[in-house]
Amino acid sequence: MDVRFNVQTFGCQMNKHDSERVVGRLEGLGAQCVDSIAESDVVVFMTCCVREAADVRLIGQVNTMKSEPIREGSPFGKRIVAIGGCIGPRDGAKLFDELDHLDVVFGTNNLSSLPGLLEDAFVKGVRRAETLEESDSFPTELPTKREHSWAAWLPITIGCNNFCTYCIVPYVRGREKSRPMEDIAQEAQRYVNAGVKEITLLGQNVNSYGRDLYGKPRFADVLEVVAETGIERLRFATSHPKDLTDEVIAKFGTLESLMPALHLPVQSGSDAILKAMHRGYTTQHYLDLIGKVRQACPEIALSTDIIVGFPGETEEDFEGTYRIVDEVGYSQVFTFIYSKREGTPAAKMHDDTPREVIQARFDRLVDVVQKHAFEANQIELGRTVDVLVEGVSKRDSGLLSGKSPKNQTVHAPLPDGVDIADLAGKIVPVIVEEARTWYLRGTLASKVR
Ligand code: 5AD
Ligand code: SF4
Repeated sequence: MDVRFNVQTFGCQMNKHDSERVVGRLEGLGAQCVDSIAESDVVVFMTCCVREAADVRLIGQVNTMKSEPIREGSPFGKRIVAIGGCIGPRDGAKLFDELDHLDVVFGTNNLSSLPGLLEDAFVKGVRRAETLEESDSFPTELPTKREHSWAAWLPITIGCNNFCTYCIVPYVRGREKSRPMEDIAQEAQRYVNAGVKEITLLGQNVNSYGRDLYGKPRFADVLEVVAETGIERLRFATSHPKDLTDEVIAKFGTLESLMPALHLPVQSGSDAILKAMHRGYTTQHYLDLIGKVRQACPEIALSTDIIVGFPGETEEDFEGTYRIVDEVGYSQVFTFIYSKREGTPAAKMHDDTPREVIQARFDRLVDVVQKHAFEANQIELGRTVDVLVEGVSKRDSGLLSGKSPKNQTVHAPLPDGVDIADLAGKIVPVIVEEARTWYLRGTLASKVR
């Protein structure tokens, strides 16, 4: 049977990676992955519910499926619609009441059940939800179809035990589970042997890796074994400041393949708010960590997440956030306005700051974020940086686009007669001639390596 499917992904890297597993699983069964919903017989929405906006958008999008015509030659009388990702475990079968043309709901730990659920939908016409917290297999045991042949995401933990008071993730992704280190090392080695240049280790809190494995091995050991595979570029996300150890920090100075970039979410620069968020560290502890990280790797590119407008945030609290952002001088900051998530402790906290006040704080923060992002890029002017080429620039097909070790976006004119398909996935030296807030631009320094 000629079955074509499309996957729409929202949210974080973990969701994007889960989508790769969905594609790998369905392709393994003989279905064909297509680029657009219009060409598909089955559409899978990989959802995010970390903030309200994504929720609202998803419901709207799923609703438009009703009027989307089925493709000519489709083996089914209708388009099969599935919802996966974080909304599945939160809402479960309730989604069927709200969305009458929805066929399947599956949880973040139930990727392996998807083929059976889809089959029930199109053979028996049964609408089913499977959103068990415990899964029979670690999702990483499923085949994966990577978006780029030269880069791989490699989950080392799933779930989260931190219960930050604003966050829905522990409720929808379940308790933290670490993957055995031998499995991680084997998967990494397979990638290296297949020509992968960059591995990103994934987990909601990679630093607490191993806590459920009798405390050993630890995350620093994982970095070590993955580096030993000979991978050229190694990254990880996300780090929690309360669990970032000196051993892990030291690796930035000793492992050549560990790229000089660290995402360390601070969330707020006020100790009172950090306490109410249940983050487990103070601003001073966070700044001490930054000091140690910079000592181990002076030019490291730091990035962070910030929530503005957490319940009860005062002007003084916000000043603390502004100060820490200004003091650290991040290369990149992901700024979010607090979004109330039912079921989390913060949803019950008193919250009377007017929306306009929060928006004004947010805008002020964005200004200082941009100032530092611009400054952080100036240091690259005149230097030669190694760029892992991803493709051509979205705006100009005559420019190649890729990532520096610090994860900066770098553009350079594609040399005459060079096909981007031959360059994608290669690491090329670029002499930087222009440094903007969100990208660098230069020219290729020499022949491609
Ligand atoms: N409201 C706003 N931002 C949130 N985040 C998580 N939960 C919420 C929420 N309820 C942000 C945090 C986290 C990032 C992935 O999303 O900053 O680090
Ligand atoms: Fe959410 Fe906190 Fe876990 Fe991150 S560490 S996923 S913010 S609960």
